[in-house]
Amino acid sequence: MPGLTIGDTIPNLELDSTHGKIRLHDFVAGVGEHGLVIIFSHPGDYTPVCTTELAAMAGYAGEFEKRGVKLLGISCDDVQSHKEWIKDIEAYKPGNRVTYPIMADPDRKAIRELNMVDPDEKDSSGQLPSRTLHIVGHDKQVKLSFLYPSCVGRNMDEVVRAVDALQTAAKHTVATPANWKPGECVVIPPGVSDEEAKKKYPNGFQTADLPSHKGYLRFTKV
Ligand code: BEZ
Repeated sequence: MPGLTIGDTIPNLELDSTHGKIRLHDFVAGVGEHGLVIIFSHPGDYTPVCTTELAAMAGYAGEFEKRGVKLLGISCDDVQSHKEWIKDIEAYKPGNRVTYPIMADPDRKAIRELNMVDPDEKDSSGQLPSRTLHIVGHDKQVKLSFLYPSCVGRNMDEVVRAVDALQTAAKHTVATPANWKPGECVVIPPGVSDEEAKKKYPNGFQTADLPSHKGYLRFTKV
C-alpha cells in the first residue's frame, strides 16, 4: 500500500514534543487560508547531517513565518534527547534559535503513519525516519512532499521556493514552471481555455510558438 501522499489528509496523531503535547489537526488549525504546516523528519538526534538541517531550518524560521508557515520537526528520539540536542544545534549556528517544536516518536508508530520510514536505516529499536518533509494545507491535506534518504541533506531555499510556488498557484489559479522564482512568469494550467484566460488573468498572456501549434504553453504575470 502506498503511504501518505499528495491529497491525503494527515492522521490526527497526538505526540509529545519539545513544546508539550501536539495534536496534528489542532496544530494545522492554527494556520490561515493560504497558510501551511511543514512537518519534517530526520533520522536521529546527535547525527551530523540532521544537526546542519535543523540549524538551517531555524535560520529560515523568519522566512516561513512571513509566509504564514508553521514548522514541526519529528524523529524517534525522546523529548529529553531533543531538548539536549537543541543546545548543540544552536551552538553550531549561533543566532539560529530552534523555536519550532520537535516531536518524539519512540515507538515509531507516527513515522509509519506519516510515510516517513527509511527502509535502509535501522537502530536496535527498529526502523528510522527518512528525511521526509510534508507541506500540509489548512485543509489538513498534503500539498507536496520531499522524500530524501539519510545521506542527502535538504536545501531550505528549495523548501521556501516550493512554499512560494504552492501559495502562488493556490492564490492565482496558475502553475509554476521549472526553476521558477517569485516575480517570474507563471503558466496557465491546461484546464483553463483561452477565453477564460482572457477574463481571468489581468496582465494578459503569451502563448509559446511551438511546432505542434497546440497552444498549451501560456505564460502570464501575477
Ligand atoms: C546524519 O544525520 O548525518 C545521518 C543520520 C543517519 C544516517 C546517516 C547520516
